[in-house]
Amino acid sequence: MSSSLKVTPTPVSTRVFDGQKPGTSGLRKKVTEFMSPQYMENFIQCTLEAIGPSLVGCTLVVGGDGRHGMKEAVNNIIQLAAANGVGKLIVAQNGLMSTPAVSCVIRKRKTHGGIILTASHNPGGPDGDFGIKYNMDNGGPAPTEFTNRIHDLSQKIHTYHICSDLQCDFSQTGTYNYQVEDREFVVEVIDSFEDYNLMMKEIFDFESIKNYLKGTKVLFNALHGVTGPYVEKIFGEELGTGTDSFMKTNVLTDFGQGHPDPNLTYAADLVEAMAKGDFGFGAAFDGDGDRNMILGAKAFFVTPCDSLAVIANNLDCIPYFQKSPVTGYARSMPTSGALDRVAEKKGHDCYETPTGWKFFGNLLDAGKIQLCGEESFGTGSSHIREKDGIWAALAWLQILAARNLSVEELLKEHWKQYGRNFFTRYDYENCQAEPCNKMMAELQAFVDDQSNIGKKFIGHGATDKEYTVSKIDNFSYTDPVDGSVTTKQGIRIFFSDGSRIVFRLSGTGSSGATVRLYVDSYESEPDNFLKSASEMLSACVDVALQISKLKEYTGRDKPTVVT
Ligand code: G6P
Ligand code: ZN
Repeated sequence: MSSSLKVTPTPVSTRVFDGQKPGTSGLRKKVTEFMSPQYMENFIQCTLEAIGPSLVGCTLVVGGDGRHGMKEAVNNIIQLAAANGVGKLIVAQNGLMSTPAVSCVIRKRKTHGGIILTASHNPGGPDGDFGIKYNMDNGGPAPTEFTNRIHDLSQKIHTYHICSDLQCDFSQTGTYNYQVEDREFVVEVIDSFEDYNLMMKEIFDFESIKNYLKGTKVLFNALHGVTGPYVEKIFGEELGTGTDSFMKTNVLTDFGQGHPDPNLTYAADLVEAMAKGDFGFGAAFDGDGDRNMILGAKAFFVTPCDSLAVIANNLDCIPYFQKSPVTGYARSMPTSGALDRVAEKKGHDCYETPTGWKFFGNLLDAGKIQLCGEESFGTGSSHIREKDGIWAALAWLQILAARNLSVEELLKEHWKQYGRNFFTRYDYENCQAEPCNKMMAELQAFVDDQSNIGKKFIGHGATDKEYTVSKIDNFSYTDPVDGSVTTKQGIRIFFSDGSRIVFRLSGTGSSGATVRLYVDSYESEPDNFLKSASEMLSACVDVALQISKLKEYTGRDKPTVVT
């Protein structure tokens, strides 16, 4: 037995901090708030306590996206876990591990769960955001019942337990043993990439992708987030792309002062580089590596809704899905219905869940679905319980290799077969919370009043169009596996021509309110397939603005981001 270092658990009195309520994806706050004395210790203590009696002796994984504050958080987690009876922590080297890779490690090493240090696509640095999220033993985000427990505990906490004398150097892989009173506590620092890389090699046929890449130039933008080294290892070392295929693959604690969100606005440099036409395929990933954006040559943009539908339609190109039969798909409610059309044709089930990856967990665990995705640039499958950016890019490359088509050709072929769901999302970021809540209350009153069905609105846009309200509600979801009910997940207004608008407030912001407006429609007329979404949806967007009085409430003339 290697010699263990003796460390001492100490109780420390603390006070309650308000607002430690995890949102769509963990607790996200401004760094200044998160790093205020005892704030982080409180939240970690409550997260550990929420695990319950099985905390004692259990194994947890810890990794994060490299943002400012992460190393301090890893250190804190080690010290608090030791004092609270955790048996073993598996820590990513230097603390760096993408969210999908943490999910992979939890599942592969059968741990009790994991703690991910990320605020995902939110900006980082001293003025940016920090976040902590807990994942369960299936590798997926904790359900609401668990996060509510963390919040309840955070309202009552008066003491946390910490071994402040435990200093573990997690920059080197290896196993470190500690003696905490009569217990052993182990920290195993592991390579951040190995398990994930191996898994990707099992899912995909790397040889065929490698061959494809000999004839097509590709470009990846990691936005200075955690995927940088994964991109360099998997696409560079394993698949043979050169360094001219990489943008922003060096991890920076402030993401180079950028916004590590892979969309047309925040990954504009990828769009610009792709527009020149030298590259046939491009992808960007968010800070923690679970989101992706896919572009074709000349910056041909694939909406996440279409990306999901195209992958669904071509799953049989991917070895993983050839081995295990596909029975169903799922998408979040605001995501367009393009996936549903593929499901119908293939005879598979298609589930509609609230926004948030955690809602796919039960469906995946029960084997009801194998592929799922969201309009918010998330695509994933049953291989783990998080969405997975690198996986999505590999899935696209595998499909392109097998189909021998360009990205644009593949999309055009898809629309020819299924028709096209036009989709757009308007984000009004960082608005004042109060007027937004009032706007949502008024929209709630609109959908509660069934006499609004049949009302007509004239939308002014590229062409003016009349819309008749056909159905209104606030989306509610009954989980088909555990029967749990989640209400008020988005105001929905349907129109008689099949188009639909959805309003919801984001659950991932760290301050103020972000309003999301989702608009989609279906087009079966081939002459319209190549028109732009902004043109096709402009009149419907106008109706959405009329009904919500969004401009009056938010004071915003224009959205911050349009997808
Ligand atoms: C995260 C979650 C997703 C969710 C997205 C948008 O990425 O993992 O599941 O769709 O945030 O959430 P929001 O509440 O900001 O619209
Ligand atoms: Zn993310």
